[in-house]
Parts: sequence; structure tokens; C-alpha cells
Amino acid sequence: MSEPLLEVQLSVNGVVHDLRVPARRLLSDALRHDLGLTGTHVGCEHGVCGACTVLADGRPVRACLMFAVSAVGLNLTTVEGLAGADGTLSNVQQAFAECHGLQCGFCTPGFLTTITAGLRDNPQPTHEQARDMIAGNLCRCTGYQNIVKAVERAAELGA
Ligand code: FES
Ligand code: FES
Repeated sequence: MSEPLLEVQLSVNGVVHDLRVPARRLLSDALRHDLGLTGTHVGCEHGVCGACTVLADGRPVRACLMFAVSAVGLNLTTVEGLAGADGTLSNVQQAFAECHGLQCGFCTPGFLTTITAGLRDNPQPTHEQARDMIAGNLCRCTGYQNIVKAVERAAELGA
């Protein structure tokens, strides 16, 4: 017997998409596989690593812990939605580039979305607050120093 599909409408990066998905479809899979927005990375699928973090009504959420049907009615922003329409990098993206805040880049989309939300809440973080802002995201490559520098640089740029 084939699995029943539900009609859902997702608003992602300002575009409304109509999808037919099983009730169990994870938001991370819907974004990547149904919408082709592969900038949202999936690492642990257990809510631990933060690579799948997207913004829902501006708040960071783990896309691997949320069903696509639960995201109906929310304004979602993925890493693809952070740059300007003309491709201009956001201040957080610019800061990562300037501070070499990434190596392999697998974790980067989750950091960018998390920091974007964090700096909205606290535009001028102390060094400790900058560290705390990224405490929920894992990076296997960088040792975090340059990511913290990128948070501080983004704050200077006025993220
Ligand atoms: S893939 Fe979602 S937190 Fe790791
Ligand atoms: S840059 Fe490789 S996991 Fe963070």
C-alpha cells in the first residue's frame, strides 16, 4: 500500500511552495530533496550538530527535528536566503569570508543561520556571548576560534 501524501505549503526564502509529502517527512528532507535547497546540511539527524539549522519566523530551529507539515504557516529562511537578491553576501557571510570561519564548510550553513538570529537578538555581543551564541553548533574542522572572530566581525559590520 502506498503511503498517503499530504498537501502542504511551505514559505521558504520568500517563495511559497506547494508540496505533497508523507506526514513523516522531515523538514530537512523536504528542503533538500523536494525543494532542492541543499544548502541545509544534515549531519547527525538527532538535533545535536546544528548543521541543519534554519530560521522559522526568524528563530533558529533544527530542521532534522521538525516535520515538514509542522512548518506550514512559518516563514522559513535557509542559508540560500541569507544573501541579497543580487547575491550580495550578508554581513555574517562576509565576516566568515574575511575571518576564514570555515574549512570544509559542512557546518557553515547552520552557523550562518544561528549567528544571523543571534546577532539580531544581541547585536553587540561580548567575546563570551559570541562564544555562547555558537555553543549549540558543532564544527569538526576549525577549532571555533575563527568562527568566534567571524561573529565579532559580523557585529562590527552591523549584522
Ligand atoms: S542534522 Fe540536525 S542537528 Fe544535526
Ligand atoms: S568547517 Fe568543517 S565541520 Fe566546520
